[in-house]
Amino acid sequence: MPQRIFTNARLATMEADGAPYGLIPDGALILDGDRILWCGAQSDLPDSDAPREDLGGRLVTPGLIDCHSHVVFGGNRAKEFELRLQGASYEEVARAGGGIVSTVRATRAADEATLLADALPRVDALIAEGVTSLEIKSGYGLDVETELRMLRVARQIGEMRPITICTSFLGAHAVPEDYKGRTDAYLDEVCLPALRRAHDAGLVDAVDGFCEGIAFSPDQIARVFDVAHALGLPVKLHAEQLSNLGGAALAASHGALSADHIEYLDAAGVQAMAGAGTVAVLLPGAFYTLRETQAPPVDLLRAAGVPIALATDCNPGSSPLASLLLTLNMGCTLFRLTPDEALAGTTRNAARALGLTDRGVLRAGMRADLAIWDVSEPAELAYRIGFNPLYQRISGGCV
Ligand code: NIG
Ligand code: FE
Repeated sequence: MPQRIFTNARLATMEADGAPYGLIPDGALILDGDRILWCGAQSDLPDSDAPREDLGGRLVTPGLIDCHSHVVFGGNRAKEFELRLQGASYEEVARAGGGIVSTVRATRAADEATLLADALPRVDALIAEGVTSLEIKSGYGLDVETELRMLRVARQIGEMRPITICTSFLGAHAVPEDYKGRTDAYLDEVCLPALRRAHDAGLVDAVDGFCEGIAFSPDQIARVFDVAHALGLPVKLHAEQLSNLGGAALAASHGALSADHIEYLDAAGVQAMAGAGTVAVLLPGAFYTLRETQAPPVDLLRAAGVPIALATDCNPGSSPLASLLLTLNMGCTLFRLTPDEALAGTTRNAARALGLTDRGVLRAGMRADLAIWDVSEPAELAYRIGFNPLYQRISGGCV
């Protein structure tokens, strides 16, 4: 790939220190193959005879990163949506055999081609909004074969679309019906063997779990994390979503990349995350859908310097949301993040939550993942609702 130069751009570099958004108002960029070769003020642009494109003052951000999703699943839960509107709570639906377990039935029944065909439109909706990296979890199989099938589909998505896919093994998502009341047996007989097999097949980039009264206890999650460590895999956790079991502190004590949801996180959990450098991944789509009233402790996270990321949590139950732009808006409106924090949460800090060190900011040497927007102010990306101003998306240097 030859070099390309973009001129007359407003660059939201998202570098942490300096101007809000790391903004360079009269900026230029040189791409060389799949990398950013140079990025800075246009007045400093080095001499080059590479082809130039005048961006007419458009805004350039790092390609967006959705660091928490469950886009691969069978069926949908529109019926459950109706039930909840009639008054049933998320936990009641789950305990009555609905919830995650009903998606497990539909996912087990779907072959690989069906799962792929169902997931691609969701991925395409994200891509259309400038997403260039996406995390995808398993966790709706809860048997060895289906967990592996979900992860294979996730890998296929990365081959079929110009997007980086990071997979997370989420076998500890729910206890399947045939193991009801026998959670440890499920871990020993299904979840941990599935993790080892998926890892052997090269299908796992990280290991996740759901630490909650309706799912797995901290001790049970610790068992999963111990196996992850033995395999050399990083961990992360759905923690403190519906109650406070100390999941985030447990995750931090295992050096987790992130603790996600964390509406019920307390000050001790915040300190543990700060000490371990664990990213707080906030999921306003689930907060909104479940009509949660307790917001995550954003002030405490800020005060402790915990990096904050934002993600769709795209899944059929608690967050049927396939828009990262809407997620930015929700992060600001529901959690009172600033638009700068929200954009950092879907770029710089989302990269960190995935352990990706080569993206999330516009900087020489970083991967050429860019989103070019028909807006001039970065705050416009979080401010509008249901409006997509993407002009062009570049993933690994390619349009
Ligand atoms: O991230 N919290 C657990 N897992 C998903 C919900 C999955 C579902 O309801 O299907 C979440 O919100
Ligand atoms: Fe989730």
